Amino acid sequence: MSRPSFVQRLGLAAPIVQAPIGSACTPELVAAVGEAGGLGVLAGSWLSAERLTRAIERVRELSARPFGVNLVLSQAPADHVRICVAEAVPVLSTSWGAAAGVSAALRGTGMVHVHMVGAVEDAVRAVADGVDAVVAQGWEAGGHVLGEVSTLALVPAVVDAVDVPVLAAGGIADARGVAAVTALGADAAWVGTRFLAAREADVHPDYRARLAAAGPSDTVFGEVFTGGWPDAPHRALRTSSTLRSDLPPEVVAVDGDGRPVRRYDDVIPTAGVRGDVEALAHYAGQGVGLVHGVSPAASIVAALWPGPAAPSDDGGRGSSGAAARS
Ligand SMILES: Cc1cc2nc3c(=O)[nH]c(=O)nc-3n(C[C@H](O)[C@H](O)[C@H](O)COP(=O)(O)O)c2cc1C
Repeated sequence: MSRPSFVQRLGLAAPIVQAPIGSACTPELVAAVGEAGGLGVLAGSWLSAERLTRAIERVRELSARPFGVNLVLSQAPADHVRICVAEAVPVLSTSWGAAAGVSAALRGTGMVHVHMVGAVEDAVRAVADGVDAVVAQGWEAGGHVLGEVSTLALVPAVVDAVDVPVLAAGGIADARGVAAVTALGADAAWVGTRFLAAREADVHPDYRARLAAAGPSDTVFGEVFTGGWPDAPHRALRTSSTLRSDLPPEVVAVDGDGRPVRRYDDVIPTAGVRGDVEALAHYAGQGVGLVHGVSPAASIVAALWPGPAAPSDDGGRGSSGAAARS
């Protein structure tokens, strides 16, 4: 089945998408990934209309490359789609909801609509709804996880079932993972956890240190951080809050804007968080064992795709079997 290429349509030099990683996404991160030849994606769901518009403008001040905005449909204000259309954002990424209404709103705009799914049936439905590409998210993924099928099994099944480009998410954290999912038929890799280690990401130093120290067995899948977003399973590093779900949901920290954060809230420790950082949601995928330290986003793109268009920072070892370190 011949299908249009997502990478070619957007003119990317590397088949690498920096997945939306909630409040850790900054315009600087998105722009840096774009400048490095990949696609950066802002997480717009929890931004006010003013902040979303400002973030889009800031990406454009920093880079002329294509970029995306992600909206978690069950969380984002409905008007955010209109803002993205008014701003002619090149790529609108959606998740956790029905794609049909957004696809209809984007028809004729030239914007690319990418919808994330965790099952083959959902991919088929999204394509019937009119999306331009699907993200097949495997169970290994960090953050909120749509299904319970592994990336290795889900991606080729989705590739066989739909005639639009398929992007692969979940557990991809070095060049070997990117090579694996492209071999499975994915057009590009949708990488979240590895970009939490990008210098430009807004991540608390304690969260970064725990990511760097964690191995693949150090994440847990379940429903722990339900405050503000119930009924949505997620994967996070094992912390005091994942070990005990019966602790009082008291205020344990304040965020960068001084707002109180309760234990079990769906809030990650960004750099400005103060208080009991360890108690908060440390979302991470099973690929966290391949994340070793902080480096510029451009180096991460290059390590993930050490091809001629994106020179490697890992001595070219990334595709030959040695772990790519950042
Ligand atoms: C800290 C964090 C925040 C996330 N926030 C979002 C989000 O706002 N919207 C969304 O659709 N997915 C979100 N995700 C899921 C990612 O987009 C992506 O599917 C996942 O990170 C891929 O798996 P990986 O972490 O193993 O690379 C988040 C993931 C993480 C780790």
